[in-house]
Amino acid sequence: MLVTGGAGFIGSVTTLALLEAGHDVIVADDLSNSSKHAIDRVESLARESGAAGDLEFHELDARDDAALHDLFASGHITSVIHFAGLKAVGESVDKPLDYYRVNLGSTVSLVTAMRDHGVRDLVFSSSATVYGPEAQSPLREDAALSTSSPYGRTKLFIEQMLRDVAAAEPGWNIALLRYFNPIGAHPSGLIGEDPRGIPNNLMPYIMQVAVGRRDELVVFGDDYDTADGTCVRDYIHVLDLADGHVAALHAIDRFHGCQAVNLGTGTGHSVLEVLAAATAAVGKPLPFRLGARRPGDIAVTVADPSRAAALLGWSATRTLNDMCTDAWRWQSTNPFGYGD
Ligand code: NAD
Ligand code: UD1
Repeated sequence: MLVTGGAGFIGSVTTLALLEAGHDVIVADDLSNSSKHAIDRVESLARESGAAGDLEFHELDARDDAALHDLFASGHITSVIHFAGLKAVGESVDKPLDYYRVNLGSTVSLVTAMRDHGVRDLVFSSSATVYGPEAQSPLREDAALSTSSPYGRTKLFIEQMLRDVAAAEPGWNIALLRYFNPIGAHPSGLIGEDPRGIPNNLMPYIMQVAVGRRDELVVFGDDYDTADGTCVRDYIHVLDLADGHVAALHAIDRFHGCQAVNLGTGTGHSVLEVLAAATAAVGKPLPFRLGARRPGDIAVTVADPSRAAALLGWSATRTLNDMCTDAWRWQSTNPFGYGD
């Protein structure tokens, strides 16, 4: 099978899970936001665990039609997981065209190559960001969709594009997986999240405070209508998320066209709860202060995960403490990530 973006945070952990489940995996990644070291580490972890699948890596841009054609022409690809894309909400506001070019362009090229080579099974990385602020948590897949950033719009447009593709021609099985807040790392401590620049997201920021790369965490707002006043999110261990992809792939025949499925735990945690769990995992106080709200944030975002349980036979099992312990093992042994 083909995994685009397989060197990235979620892609690397999922590639390992796929190899361990016995799949042969071809990773296509241009390394624009990742490191070849991640692939080397996936390969050695797979070998250590006696994984049955084989890994092949191609450094390529997922918009390169000719390179995609050559990959599919090998005849070994029967299904695809499409992680490749740009994902920083703030950056997408400053550079919208980059987001439309990469996220939409890569999907158009990939799905065209799939169609041309008779490959019809696709798992796509969507996001809980497609649920509009008016939608009420726990969020079901049929909640109102709208989004406020160019990044979010690329996910909404791609979801719609894939629905159109599936409607136009029978035989497609397309899973739109809407991730909630993936955090944590592989429990080996060898593969994890390695953001470039100042992290936008909560857990990588906390972890960089913990290793001394940042002075303090700023909690964005403590006057929300929640138990402790800070925002509540559905954090999910990246290993659970990876297992969710393996489950989606195994259940892909049940999609009959194109369907969306939430990948979340169904349980929310506030910013202060995450900070407390991370502090316990790190074993020392982590400096923080309460600050202003971040524009665009909403008080509570939590998944209704029941469709994933029914359709994929999958539910998340790992706790917030597991997520923090694994994130800390990764960050403390790799304080500067992959170091390149
Ligand atoms: P990531 O940046 O770590 O991984 C994306 C990978 O795609 C990187 O390895 C990057 O080098 C590669 N890539 C980017 N443009 C490419 C191109 N044109 N051709 C080939 N490879 C390219 O991000 P991630 O956190 O692993 O996210 C994976 C997917 O999940 C993304 O589509 C993202 O939008 C989506 N998602 C992520 C989150 C999250 O919180 N991390 C939440 C919801 C959805
Ligand atoms: C953000 C994006 C979302 C994207 C997701 C994963 C926004 C508005 N939303 O979600 O579209 O799919 O990341 O990439 O950007 N927080 C702090 N201090 C920090 C960082 C975060 O208090 O330094 C708080 C935030 O206000 C939020 C919570 O921590 O309440 C989680 O933030 P984050 O990790 O950025 O995820 P989301 O905002 O849920």
